[in-house]
Amino acid sequence: MRSYDFIVIGSGIAGLSFALRAATHGSVVIATKRSAEQGSTSWAQGGIACVQSQEDSFDIHVADTLEAGAGLCDEAVVRTIVTEAPAAMETLMDYGVVFDKRMDEEGHEELDLGREGGHSKRRILHSKDTTGREVENKLLALVKAHPGITLLEQHFAVDLITTAKLGLAGPNRCVGVYVLDQAAGLVRTLRSDRIVLCTGGCGRVYQYTTNPDIATGDGVAMAWRAGAEIANMEFIQFHPTCLYHAKRKSFLISEAVRGEGGVLIDHEGNEFMQKYDRRKSLAPRDIVARAIDREIKRTGKPCVYLDITHKPREFIAERFPNIYETCLELGIDAAVEPIPVVPAAHYQCGGVLTDVNGATSIGGLWAVGEVGCTGLHGANRLASNSLLEGAVVATRAVKDVITKCPMESPTVTVAVPEWQSGNVTDVDELVVIYHNWDEIRRLMWDYVSIVRTGKRLIRAATRLRNLQREVQEFYWNFKITTELLELRNLVEVATLIVESATRRKESRGLHYTLDYPDRNDEHWRHNTVLVKRMEPKPEGP
Ligand code: FAD
Ligand code: SIN
Repeated sequence: MRSYDFIVIGSGIAGLSFALRAATHGSVVIATKRSAEQGSTSWAQGGIACVQSQEDSFDIHVADTLEAGAGLCDEAVVRTIVTEAPAAMETLMDYGVVFDKRMDEEGHEELDLGREGGHSKRRILHSKDTTGREVENKLLALVKAHPGITLLEQHFAVDLITTAKLGLAGPNRCVGVYVLDQAAGLVRTLRSDRIVLCTGGCGRVYQYTTNPDIATGDGVAMAWRAGAEIANMEFIQFHPTCLYHAKRKSFLISEAVRGEGGVLIDHEGNEFMQKYDRRKSLAPRDIVARAIDREIKRTGKPCVYLDITHKPREFIAERFPNIYETCLELGIDAAVEPIPVVPAAHYQCGGVLTDVNGATSIGGLWAVGEVGCTGLHGANRLASNSLLEGAVVATRAVKDVITKCPMESPTVTVAVPEWQSGNVTDVDELVVIYHNWDEIRRLMWDYVSIVRTGKRLIRAATRLRNLQREVQEFYWNFKITTELLELRNLVEVATLIVESATRRKESRGLHYTLDYPDRNDEHWRHNTVLVKRMEPKPEGP
């Protein structure tokens, strides 16, 4: 067993930002399940929303966020995060992050602000179309050079260790984490009174997604098993414009392309967004994704197109080099032809319920970044508000952790047992794991995606119950592997999404059901909160 002042699980913007600040107070370990740069942060394209220009104001950014969030945002949280954004951007720039600049009319250098759907002003700080890579690289370099931070790559957090699971009386507290050291093939016990989940989202629960492989909802699943409150999992955001190409899956065409005038058209070259929203191609994502879904069903074609051909080639290649080059490699010249696109699962608006400091309902446990649900996003996230949330809430979380668990006085002194492997053998049929994995992702896409019905949700729930039984049997009988652990988490998170969607008897933001097509503020303007009933049981198979 190893003890640290802080345990951070995950190494995206949330985990790295938290670690860099926490390291000024004590020892930090970051456990991350692949190489550290693998995560959604590295893939982020459009940028980070932050009020910067004279024409913009905090009030307008707040209003845009609330409008996108369809009545479910926590306004106080929105205001806090929006007003603390400029300081968070200063910190990122101090860490070495470089955002694009331009010359103003008087020849002074200023930040080049992009625009995206749902934003009524230009306010997106960006580094070309690879903003996330710039942020991740700069923060990770600092973390790797920091003597007070231990970075454990290929270390998969399996489960949180809590006082409730240990059968101890009193309020439930998190006191450690079991992590699978993949190289050594054994489970290590990490002990701390200050544990922060920064594990990102769960896009991989769907067949089509913009998300990287790591996005299997591990943090939500772990927190759920530990007894934390989980909120709003029905609100899964589908990005309207994922590249449609046989040879390249999960490649995003940034909303910033529409921000620079890109227009959605059908296979005959006709614009269609005017039928759905006055903001046309720049309407919030839930509206655009649903409109595309309808157009695809109406025309029977597999995709729609994003047309930016009215812009000069030089502009496209300079502003969106990653998108331009990737399309070109696939034989699509965005300067002269429209890009084929489809919606795909992109962002988890719900998650582990927290306050604006990332504090969860379990003592000693915080959740920051996409894994958490602070109330910023409500029923639909405004574009480029998530990197912002990760940066702001990480800073607040460090202060909150120090206040609640002062460094000089450890709050819990319990004996934490080592992981018990029991009498398990190697998985004999990996094919079953892959089959179950595919089945979950396909059924979630077919039954629980952009347009839902009660009947489809019941079907999904029934299939998931069977899968859950099978996966649980695997978990108890075989040696754990990353594939098995991710499958266990996927089925857990899929079940939470279906359960949350089943409970909400209205359509709001990203949750649209044909059974209740209207928004019902009288009965449903509240979060969907799920909590597992806790029974003490021994840890490990
Ligand atoms: P991540 O960056 O996803 O990091 C999660 C980390 O947790 C990873 O290191 C992962 O390996 C680790 N991890 C997960 N499970 C475990 C486990 N069991 N044990 C150990 N480690 C674990 N948002 C914006 O605001 N602006 C954008 O322009 C933007 N563009 C995007 C483009 C794409 C293609 C995608 C997919 C998302 C985009 N988003 C954007 C969303 C944004 O990138 C993410 O919400 C944000 O990066 C999440 O950061 P995070 O630190 O919470 O998680
Ligand atoms: C994009 O660049 O379109 C993604 C922005 C986001 O998800 O916030």
